Amino acid sequence: MVRGLLVVLSLLLLGLQGCAPKAVDFEQTSPKEKIVLTFSHVVSDASPKGRAARLWADLVYQRSGGRVEIKIYPNGTLYKDGEELEALKKGYVQIIAPATSKLTSLDSRWGVFDLPFFFNDLEQVHQLADGPVGELLRKSMREKGIEVLAYWDNGFKILTADRPLENLKDFQGLKIRIMDSPILKKQFLKLGAIPVPLSFNEVFEALENKKVNGGENTPSNLYSKKFYQLQSYVTISNHGYLGYAVLMNRDYFNSLDQETRKILLDTLKEVTAWQRKIALEQNAADLARIRNDQNIKIHDLTPEEKEAWQAVLKPLAYEIIPLFPKNLQSEILKIGNLN
Ligand code: LMR
Repeated sequence: MVRGLLVVLSLLLLGLQGCAPKAVDFEQTSPKEKIVLTFSHVVSDASPKGRAARLWADLVYQRSGGRVEIKIYPNGTLYKDGEELEALKKGYVQIIAPATSKLTSLDSRWGVFDLPFFFNDLEQVHQLADGPVGELLRKSMREKGIEVLAYWDNGFKILTADRPLENLKDFQGLKIRIMDSPILKKQFLKLGAIPVPLSFNEVFEALENKKVNGGENTPSNLYSKKFYQLQSYVTISNHGYLGYAVLMNRDYFNSLDQETRKILLDTLKEVTAWQRKIALEQNAADLARIRNDQNIKIHDLTPEEKEAWQAVLKPLAYEIIPLFPKNLQSEILKIGNLN
C-alpha cells in the first residue's frame, strides 16, 4: 500500500512539473545561453570611465534582451593596477579599461599619449587615437592577445602638492606619485622631482602618510577620490593627457557569436562619443568644485612659467616619436605641438 502511495505521489509531482510555466522572460534565460562579461576597473562609478562603463552595460543588456550582461567591478575591488592586465590575459576578466600610460609595459609606444605639452586639446588626442597611430597600437595589442575596443578620455592632468609648484626649482626633491610609465618617470626626473610609481588604489594612503608629497591627475579623479583634500596646493598646468583603452581578451572576443559582438561594438561606439563629451564636462565641473574649496590654494600657470616648463619637457617627444614607422612619425608631428 505504501508503494502504491509513493507511485501516486510521484505521478502527481511529474504532472505538476509538466504544468509548470516555461521560462520565458530574459531574467530566467538559462546560464548556457546567457553571456556574462566581467569588467574590472580602478576608478569610481561616478568618474567618466565609471559612468560610461555603466551606460554600456545597461544598453547592451537592454539591446540583447538580457542575454548579454556586463558585470562591473569599480574601485579596483576585483583587480588593481598591475594585476588587471594579467587577469585579462589569463581570462579571469573579459574587459578592462586601463590608462594608456599603464600599457607602456606592453609596448612603449603607448607613451605617445603621455607626452607633456604635446597636445593642445582633446581634438588632437582624438586625431591620434582614431587615426593610423591608434590603429598601429591596436595591431600591436592584438598580437599580444588583446583587442582594443575603444579609446576613452579622462582629460588633462593638473598637479597637486604640499608646496606651491610654480617655478621649475619648486620640484626639487618632491616625491611625486606617477602611473608606471617611462615618459612620466622622465617627465618628473627632468624637473628634479622623485617619481614614485604607485597603483591608483595606493594613492590616498600614500598622500595621507606623506610617502609622496604630490601627484598629477585629472580634476575628475582628484575630486572623486578626494586626493586634493590631502594637499594644500593645486597648479592648473594641463601639462599632459590621461585617457583609456577599453580592452578585451582576444580569444574571448573571437569566441563570441557575431550578433553579440555586433551589439557590444555598435553600442560601444555610441557610448564612446557620449563618454568623450561627458569627460570634458565632468572635468570642468570637478575643477570648479576644487577651486571652490577654501582650504586649497590654486595657481594657474602663467604664460612665462608655462614656457619654462615646456622648454624642459617638450623634448621628451623625441624619445617616443622615433619608435614609430617613418610615415607615422610625420603623422604624429602634424597632430602634436613641438614648437
Ligand atoms: C591613475 O592611476 O591615476 C589613473 O590611471 C586612474 C584611472 O584609471 O583614471
